[in-house]
Amino acid sequence: MIPLADRFGRVAKDLRVSLTDRCNLRCSYCMPAEGLDWLPDDQTLTDDEVVRLITIAVRRLGITEVRFTGGEPLVRRGLVDIVRRTHELGVETSLTTNALGLARTAAALREAGLDRINVSLDSVRPETFHEITRRDRLADVVAGLEAARAAGLSPLKINAVLLRGTNDDQASELLQWALDHSYDLRFIEQMPLDAQHGWSRAEMVTADEIFERLGADFTLTPHGEARGSDPAELFDVDGGPGTVGIIASVTRPFCGDCDRVRLTADGQIRNCLFAREESDLRAALRSGATDDDLADRWVVAMAGKRAGHGIDDESFLQPDRPMSAIGG
Ligand code: 5AD
Ligand code: SF4
Repeated sequence: MIPLADRFGRVAKDLRVSLTDRCNLRCSYCMPAEGLDWLPDDQTLTDDEVVRLITIAVRRLGITEVRFTGGEPLVRRGLVDIVRRTHELGVETSLTTNALGLARTAAALREAGLDRINVSLDSVRPETFHEITRRDRLADVVAGLEAARAAGLSPLKINAVLLRGTNDDQASELLQWALDHSYDLRFIEQMPLDAQHGWSRAEMVTADEIFERLGADFTLTPHGEARGSDPAELFDVDGGPGTVGIIASVTRPFCGDCDRVRLTADGQIRNCLFAREESDLRAALRSGATDDDLADRWVVAMAGKRAGHGIDDESFLQPDRPMSAIGG
């Protein structure tokens, strides 16, 4: 076993696998209304190719957890089978999804061995949901969450992004709804990963601001447990047992504790969400590389990981590819 170590003493254990760059929503902080130029099918890894790379990561490179992302991973036809084959490797599996269509697939995913799920949901008002995602699908998300619970997927985490002037006045409402339904809500600071490059440091809703807004309606006390590589700062709400997480990706970066590495749907290794270089495993794989070769390339790709994303630095450059093509 060769660990995926970098020059700063970090070791990647958590592999994020993007299964497609396509999505059935158009969240304004992610994509333009008309969508993007999707990856052509022949550039997308096949199910067997994805599973081969995951197997190398688990068997040779010390990966212990695999999270499937997109785009929207539920639009990938082979998802259940990929989850099953990954689960059979003996690692934790999880999914980050917008939950559209989850009502139909939650039971099959659970049966295939999926351990956990994170659902993206920024508002529980149909009109605000529509405004942000440009689709009138809130009811499907709610149904998807319920189906996930019925299937035994737990804990159920919800990720929310607050946008100034759109849903930043709904933080408490969203938290109350999550508490009422026993979902674990986490707010994530908006990051500069949108395809339209519309992010602005001055406009983004900061973690401190989220904390303040929630503080008007709830008493938040630090939950206590060590944070480790979990980026969420966790708080008990009104003395517990309910909690809320705040992920200060921009204002309090947690890069020093990062244990992640990413594989894009077209077979590129990215050692960071904000990496400016990728390592092309697809080309290597399709030109006959052995598992040893592929593992070696992966190790080299990780060794080049930078210390941090530097979003708050003058010299920060947004990555060429948007979140939907990288995987969240
Ligand atoms: N900043 C923060 N979070 C984002 N997500 C998508 N784009 C951004 C962004 N620019 C979130 C989604 C989802 C997860 C994959 O990442 O809402 O919860
Ligand atoms: Fe789709 Fe997620 Fe992007 Fe929204 S944030 S458009 S759900 S990929």
